[in-house]
Amino acid sequence: MTSRPATAGKLPLTDLADMKQRRDRIVMVTAYDFPSGRIADAAGVDIVLVGDSAAMTVLGNESTVPATMEEMVMLTRAVTRGAHRPLVVADMPFGSFQVSDEDAVRNGVRFLKEAGADAVKVEGAGPTVSRVLALVGAGIPVMGHLGLTPQSATMLGGFRAQGRTAAKALQLLADALTLEQAGCFALVLEAVPAAVATRITEALAIPTIGIGSGRSCDGQVLVYHDLLGLYEGKSPRFVKRYAELATTIQEALERFAADVRSGSFPEGEHTYSIPDEELAEFLSGSTTESKREA
Ligand code: KIV
Repeated sequence: MTSRPATAGKLPLTDLADMKQRRDRIVMVTAYDFPSGRIADAAGVDIVLVGDSAAMTVLGNESTVPATMEEMVMLTRAVTRGAHRPLVVADMPFGSFQVSDEDAVRNGVRFLKEAGADAVKVEGAGPTVSRVLALVGAGIPVMGHLGLTPQSATMLGGFRAQGRTAAKALQLLADALTLEQAGCFALVLEAVPAAVATRITEALAIPTIGIGSGRSCDGQVLVYHDLLGLYEGKSPRFVKRYAELATTIQEALERFAADVRSGSFPEGEHTYSIPDEELAEFLSGSTTESKREA
């Protein structure tokens, strides 16, 4: 395992292809605010994705579709204040790039200028290829995303694995090569059979970042709330929970509530004092100054 020294500066985007060559696995995690960006940085992850999964994990929607540019720019700005060493990739929300290349570039520029992101991510192939060309042409680094693309989950028949027939797997491979040619610097493969992800990873010079796509991808990503046990909805089978923070947080809040109700919080150490003479004057209702004036 190679991890970056804590003193290192921002990971150069171009290092990702070298990491693939060296078989150094790339670590990516989502983050949605200042503390999660700061903690991801301190943990030494390589890439922080401000995923549009925020629409579900932090904004409580049923899907990623409602995420807006305003929400995503605000969340990305908070993450970049906390995450300095990892590359910060902003997810372009549904509607921010589907209509035209011009929209894609205008919104991509906002992520770099207003939110301080290093790159953007777009879902899909087909019409998305033209958006990638436009974004890269405008100097905006782009990460692609194939397989289960949550913004089009309805069209894909729900949140389910993709590329499970030979024809669909070949289409995924062709799409991956097209996105690489269009200029993507990396590609997320979500819920793709491991053997298909292996073939795609071997065929590409750019790194693949897997989520539910097996261990031969060049890197792995998980959603912050899933891996920390903060999201209490049903998790997909590819999620591994490394903590159960929702339970920890709930227990802490219950202990706080019990202390408040019993009067055992706050204690002396949580309380400020006032000098005795000031207190006496305060309680007598007049200050030295007001007495002098009288
Ligand atoms: O929005 C997101 O969190 C994502 C990851 C699942 C890759 O796109």
